[in-house]
Amino acid sequence: MKPELGVCYYPEHWPEAIWAEDAARMVETGLTWVRIGEFAWSRMEPEPDDLRFDWLDRAVETLGAAGLKVVMGTPTATPPRWMLDKHPDMLAVDASGAVRKFGSRRHYCFSHPGYIAECERITQIMGERYGNSPHVTAWQIDNEYGCHETTISYGAAALYAFRRWLGDRYGSIEALNAAWGNVFWSMEYNNFDQIDLPNLTVTEPNPAHVLAFRRFSSDQVVAFNKAQVDVLRGLTPAPLLHNYMGRVLEFDHFDVGADLDIATWDSYPIGFLSDRLEADPGHKSAFLQQGDPDMQAFHHDLYRAVGRGRWWVMEQQPGPVNWAPYNPAPLPGMVRLWSLEAVAHGAEVVSYFRWRQAPMAQEQMHAGLLTPHNRPAPALAEARQTADDLAALGDVGQTRAQVAIVFDYASDWAWAAQPQGAGFDYFRLVFSAYRALRRAGLSVDFVATSDIPKDAYSMILAPGLATLGDDITTAITEGCTLCVLGPRAGAISRDFQIPDRGRPGVAGLDCDVDLIETLPPQTNRPVVGGGSAQHWVERLSGTATDVLSFEDGTSAMTSGNGIWYLASFPDDALWDRIVELAARETGVDLHPMPNGLRRRETADHVFLINYNADTVEWCGHVINGCDVAIVAQESSRRA
Ligand code: GAL
Repeated sequence: MKPELGVCYYPEHWPEAIWAEDAARMVETGLTWVRIGEFAWSRMEPEPDDLRFDWLDRAVETLGAAGLKVVMGTPTATPPRWMLDKHPDMLAVDASGAVRKFGSRRHYCFSHPGYIAECERITQIMGERYGNSPHVTAWQIDNEYGCHETTISYGAAALYAFRRWLGDRYGSIEALNAAWGNVFWSMEYNNFDQIDLPNLTVTEPNPAHVLAFRRFSSDQVVAFNKAQVDVLRGLTPAPLLHNYMGRVLEFDHFDVGADLDIATWDSYPIGFLSDRLEADPGHKSAFLQQGDPDMQAFHHDLYRAVGRGRWWVMEQQPGPVNWAPYNPAPLPGMVRLWSLEAVAHGAEVVSYFRWRQAPMAQEQMHAGLLTPHNRPAPALAEARQTADDLAALGDVGQTRAQVAIVFDYASDWAWAAQPQGAGFDYFRLVFSAYRALRRAGLSVDFVATSDIPKDAYSMILAPGLATLGDDITTAITEGCTLCVLGPRAGAISRDFQIPDRGRPGVAGLDCDVDLIETLPPQTNRPVVGGGSAQHWVERLSGTATDVLSFEDGTSAMTSGNGIWYLASFPDDALWDRIVELAARETGVDLHPMPNGLRRRETADHVFLINYNADTVEWCGHVINGCDVAIVAQESSRRA
């Protein structure tokens, strides 16, 4: 596969007279894809049923005539103002009961039947018009589900849909009461119509209620997306995709992705470092203008799994953004580095956001490849350079990694419903495992619990997997030589009760979790030989063999039948030990990396990606600051 570059473009923001010049300049820059349309509903249909597609026809024609392939976005993330006159109750409601008003974007509730019908209607009109266009070669549905915390709504549309969802799932109110344990605090219901949404309760709501609502809210995103998929499938042979975000876990991306052909995501490394990541101030200042060395790769690997191997970066940060608390510029070379890194992880396309900086409205402080006055912004030359690099590189083939991580969105919802300790966060835990693997120089795959290939991996890490049926445990153990489960594995049933068979309840592993403690920040539980537990510690009993022990003599990790059970949220030093021990056990070669240097294997190459500002030397390779060295597999093996 030969990776390509693209850009996000808003023809409706610019005079038609410059479209052709823009298109020619995109081609000159080495771009081959252009995404348009995703926010343009008010120009497609300024009044209900007053359809104005002539301008979009000409935009597609102009871009296509220049040789660009168009990704057409359905505009459903930005319903025009008149939509509210038709559907006054379509807005989402936040947890405090406040309506989330018109005046920005994503102002809709996923459960509103009237709005879903409007989305199907506009998608049908667009599909009929562009479904067989030679220039429209992919479709993006909506834009960034969940952005601005919009997955969950506490409005009436969600409430009615939730009651129906519960009725379908539980069948009878008695079954629901039993499954949720509603005898506790006399929370038993007499019928489904009495059930409310789990906000504004006096104290915490029943976590079973919360988890059910979170599952429901995710299913609503899946159904909303599928409504447009079903329309487009009949009208176009082009692949369908969506642009996901970084560290957004409110809906199950694997479920949405199952209806699509390609997963894409929007990568803003410097924005994420300041806005979306726990790290010490030293780390944040060292990588202030580069982004965290693992955050992008984590999402590349995750979305590769969501797209079943097919994925893109739909929006790549090109310069300072406007939305993080502070917005430094990327160091020279970083835009190219991020692009090549994505390619190393299997991206088919890396597309920059956006072509020209907007002079108006919310994002006027957000850089593009061009300044608002058409001068080149620093990223333009880096995009051109990347295009040349890709041409020289040719095909990039992917290989299966030796190590996989199980990623499970529902575990995040469960831990958020009952955290028990302030620092325990599912993403944080999984990310800390991922980082340890990358510090060891390993390439990593992600797998969903429902899709674990047999005998595929030397090791699988499954941190924090809340619900662990026999089917999942069997799939994990059959997928690898050694799996590491825990902490908090198999800790709840699907309905949020402590499972009858206890925790973690793994057949063949005689290990029970007898007691759980959570620890405040800056405190920890040291492990004999180095490293310690933080946030979360379990006291284990049973005859399974200890692999690691706490200094107080209790077990920190036990082993039996190809399973290691981990009793805590490890700090970095403990994760490094676990990875080292597991690698020794399974014969996986480690390649310990210096800080900020990362390594990714493809079929023929090893990419050495230097997030540091300064040059790093590693195993005979010299990698400049903010640069990528691409070496042939053979020479890296020797190294
Ligand atoms: C993304 C979004 C774009 C734009 C961009 C700015 O989240 O999809 O439309 O807002 O952020 O960084």
